[in-house]
Amino acid sequence: MPLSPFLAACRREPVPYTPIWLMRQAGRYMAEYRAVRERLGFLELCHSPDAAAEVTVTAAERLGVDAAIIFADILLVLEPMNVGLEFTRGDGPTIQRPVRSAADVDRLADVDVRALDFVFEAVRRARAALPGGLPLIGFAGAPFTLASYLVEGGGSRTYARTKSLMLGDPGAWRALMERLVATIAAYLNGQIDAGADAVQLFDSWVGCLAPTDYRAHVLPHVRALIAALRPGTPVIHFGTDTAGLLEAMRAAGGDVIGIDWRIDLDAAWARVGHDVAVQGNLDPTALLAPIAEIRARAAAILGQAAGRPGHVFNLGHGILPQTPVDHVQALVDAVHELSAR
Ligand code: CP3
Repeated sequence: MPLSPFLAACRREPVPYTPIWLMRQAGRYMAEYRAVRERLGFLELCHSPDAAAEVTVTAAERLGVDAAIIFADILLVLEPMNVGLEFTRGDGPTIQRPVRSAADVDRLADVDVRALDFVFEAVRRARAALPGGLPLIGFAGAPFTLASYLVEGGGSRTYARTKSLMLGDPGAWRALMERLVATIAAYLNGQIDAGADAVQLFDSWVGCLAPTDYRAHVLPHVRALIAALRPGTPVIHFGTDTAGLLEAMRAAGGDVIGIDWRIDLDAAWARVGHDVAVQGNLDPTALLAPIAEIRARAAAILGQAAGRPGHVFNLGHGILPQTPVDHVQALVDAVHELSAR
């Protein structure tokens, strides 16, 4: 069977049209997802391999995208560390016992990734339920973004506590990053072994860092993580607000660099180099605009990619809950139609 357009684009091989998938394609904007959430709490859904596989497959089929992404969350890997992860409706995630010192790092439970077997099982079931040619993407949070939740105890505007640990106790920071790298590598390799065709590393909040701190305190750990993954499976390396970090992220690794919307795709691609693939980068808010405007924005991004091999179309970040489903479908159709070679 020829390589799917998504996997071909990850490897910068020629494609019949530009492949597209969307971060958070299974989420609250979709009625089928909300119906499942009436029955199951968010963590309950993540822990149910059947329901997670169903949500994964339904979203991909409903939208006609070129890849599915396993339904899970970047914070699940923190549960076996015994830090008290909770999701409360409206407030987002919280960590009851945050990590703020070297002693807290030492107290973290060592993770045996078999504790995450429910994710591997969801991957196996989704892989079996998807049409053969439709790739399944596995994912994990990157060490910095996961550390930021562990240290802050939730989301943050300034990441002051995270940066205080990084700059105030570099030894404890390094120990924390090394533990996260070992756990994330085993977790992603488990997803690959279960049938994930590609994996995405979400460094969603890394854009809060000065480039010099990224290079000193994050880049070596991301590089070690990517180097520890099973060879041959494409790795998408994504972050937001990364216009100041693109060269460094590229140096850390990844076959595909995820680009957010705060920079033009062509400028970003020139910066990371045309010898790596890119993914992006429509502003998720543009999906709230009329369909004619969405099509024009899609055409503009495809124009910037200029038919070069190695472009995976996506949003610059996840779909917003208030997005109309027919607008998402219109984007998928527009990208396929306007990029047909
Ligand atoms: O993309 C997909 O369709 C796969 C599923 C997926 C989810 N979370 C489901 C989810 C993925 C890839 C993630 C990644 C994730 N989770 C990230 C990185 C991506 C990003 O958005 O930057 C982060 C930071 C998290 C942590 C997280 N999970 C937060 C901050 C929240 C609350 C915010 C919100 O939107 O409510 C979640 C909850 C979450 N994860 C939901 C979904 C569909 C909404 C929960 C619900 O159903 O109520």
